[in-house]
Amino acid sequence: MHKPVLLEETSKILITGGGVYVDCTLGGGGHAREILKSREDIFLIGIDADETALEIAEENLREFEGRYSLYKANFKDIDAVLSMEGISEVKGILFDLGISMYQLKSGRGFSFEDESFLDMRIDKEQKLTAFTIINEYSEKKIAEILKKYGEEKYAQKIASEIVKRRKRKPIETAKELADLISSVYPKGGKIHPATKTFMALRIYVNSELENLEIGLDKGVMYLQRSGRIVVITFHSLEDRIVKHFIREKEKEGIIKNLTKKPIKPKLEEVKENPSARSAKLRAGEKLV
Ligand SMILES: C[S@@+](CC[C@H](N)C(=O)[O-])C[C@H]1O[C@@H](n2cnc3c(N)ncnc32)[C@H](O)[C@@H]1O
Repeated sequence: MHKPVLLEETSKILITGGGVYVDCTLGGGGHAREILKSREDIFLIGIDADETALEIAEENLREFEGRYSLYKANFKDIDAVLSMEGISEVKGILFDLGISMYQLKSGRGFSFEDESFLDMRIDKEQKLTAFTIINEYSEKKIAEILKKYGEEKYAQKIASEIVKRRKRKPIETAKELADLISSVYPKGGKIHPATKTFMALRIYVNSELENLEIGLDKGVMYLQRSGRIVVITFHSLEDRIVKHFIREKEKEGIIKNLTKKPIKPKLEEVKENPSARSAKLRAGEKLV
């Protein structure tokens, strides 16, 4: 099971009354359950780009039948979803970014030991996979992606090894790629040598940063006065976007920044759920 991150903190900030709430990253429905449980006068719209996530959430939310609508959609299309529901304003919006534990282990090539196809798509209907990038893109383009989206210091070295090896045979699995990176990476680091490359590929394959920018922008437009937006990020590129977005909207007088410093999980939460360690929560309240 995926353990929802910063669950108590999210509810405390996000829920300020009854109304419509949008969970833009429904996943297994951990946060959604908590939102629905908190008050009976809440209606929830859940969005996820991964069809399997919706099936799991449906199961987990069954007891709240009639109080939610779930959509397989990209949150960058939140406006289309809300218009299908006939909703013009909402009380709260949540983004809990990235992928869930279940997706990490779903055999889609997200983890280093995964012997399955180098896929990395959140939305299985999308065309681009990590396999295409690794086996078809130029060395220059691969290095660029690793540098820009993974801040990988050894991007050039890794890209050049990828291109050398794929001449012999395609690099087909996540494990093959992770092992290749380990073989050219300096020894002795604290994290797995493939961490930054995998992060870069996932971000690029799923256009994560572009979608986030669009989703935030559109989301805030639908927030009603005094409604709140909560965003949980897991790496610095995402956090930077959210921080700047909230600051920008604050300057424009549209949002009040509720988290001058991001909220991080307490030590007990990280002990219980190590994947929460890099989580940062930022929030804003609509002023107009
Ligand atoms: C960290 S999980 C959310 C977990 C959820 N809060 C819970 O408690 O179970 C992130 C979810 O967002 C989804 N996701 C990521 N990017 C998305 C996007 N652009 N549009 C819609 N869903 C997205 C992923 O498929 C994943 O299920």
